[in-house]
Amino acid sequence: LSNGLAKTPQMGWNSWNFFACNINETVIKETADALISTGLADLGYVYVNIDDCWSSVTRNLKAQLVPDEKTFPSGIKAVADYVHAKGLKLGIYSDAGAFTCQVRPGSIFLEKEDAALFASWGIDYLKYDNCYNLGIPPKDRYPPMRDALNATGRTIFYSICEWGEDDPALWAGAVGNSWRTTEDINDTWASMTKIADLNDKWAKYAGPGGWNDPDMLEVGNGGMTYQEYRAHFSIWALMKAPLLIGCDVRNMTAETIEILTNKEVIDINQDPLGVQGRKVSASGPDGCNQVWAGPLSGDRLAVVLWNRCSNATTITASWDQIGLESGIRVSVRDLWQHKELTSDAVSSFSAKVDAHDCHFYLITPYPDHSVE
Ligand code: GLA
Repeated sequence: LSNGLAKTPQMGWNSWNFFACNINETVIKETADALISTGLADLGYVYVNIDDCWSSVTRNLKAQLVPDEKTFPSGIKAVADYVHAKGLKLGIYSDAGAFTCQVRPGSIFLEKEDAALFASWGIDYLKYDNCYNLGIPPKDRYPPMRDALNATGRTIFYSICEWGEDDPALWAGAVGNSWRTTEDINDTWASMTKIADLNDKWAKYAGPGGWNDPDMLEVGNGGMTYQEYRAHFSIWALMKAPLLIGCDVRNMTAETIEILTNKEVIDINQDPLGVQGRKVSASGPDGCNQVWAGPLSGDRLAVVLWNRCSNATTITASWDQIGLESGIRVSVRDLWQHKELTSDAVSSFSAKVDAHDCHFYLITPYPDHSVE
């Protein structure tokens, strides 16, 4: 969507994966505080996104949405003011249907009124969900909110969440700044790997202004190992997915912080070229030895060796797989070890990767052999 936003994938936090409906204004404000104190905000995680359950179960007598008075007694504008005073942005959630998934009022047929209300509160981001959708096709339900947001005069990031139901990659580029390509993620290796594969096939439709969204991060929520979370974060970064943290940032382990603050990996995600990396090879049992790769600005490449098998194994990325002419000499930097591994790799690069772990490399060709 050409509203000037999403030149690179959005970064921030969303309440759903960890808190579900257990949210309130204190949690949101403390999250904003923690994004600042941990340094996450400085790394680009600026959207503080309130998901479902912020709203009262009924509209008021003027048919306006109202915040739940028990959990958001000060109102959303007060939360927006608090978040803005810290240099962060506030996101909210509604639904392109009669109700949200947790049965709060939806915005269908009241798009103009609700968008105007969100803008009056100082909202910067809307996630727009797909429950209770009256059987009306997404292509008819999502554009009215785009137009309503645009009509407010406030610049609001528009996140389409129709779960990949109607192949949104094919039409949502003109409607939203990102679109979910899949069902909801959960905090398991099985869910994360399945969603990565589903999102991969839409790669060519992503780019500055509109991104494929394989759902929010589960890093730090406890259901995967350190290696699995590192792979989750690496692949989401490479796929130019939104990096929306889904854990309790007030209470993170050192390992969670190490993963989420890896600036070299974040830089791949935020690279200005904006091309989604792809799975370029899968070998071994069930294709579990995988190479994922994508181009970056400056003729560089990002390469992930991803071991989805249950034993340590050696994985090789060959230049023809990753889109380099064979014979080109490159340097290879490891983005998890934070060091140069070699300055003269030619034609392929191999490494032993532990089970369910990955290696993430930045590949820089020498200028005299740059990619034409
Ligand atoms: C749907 C969405 C989730 C979350 C919940 C909230 O399942 O896909 O991301 O917003 O609704 O109820």
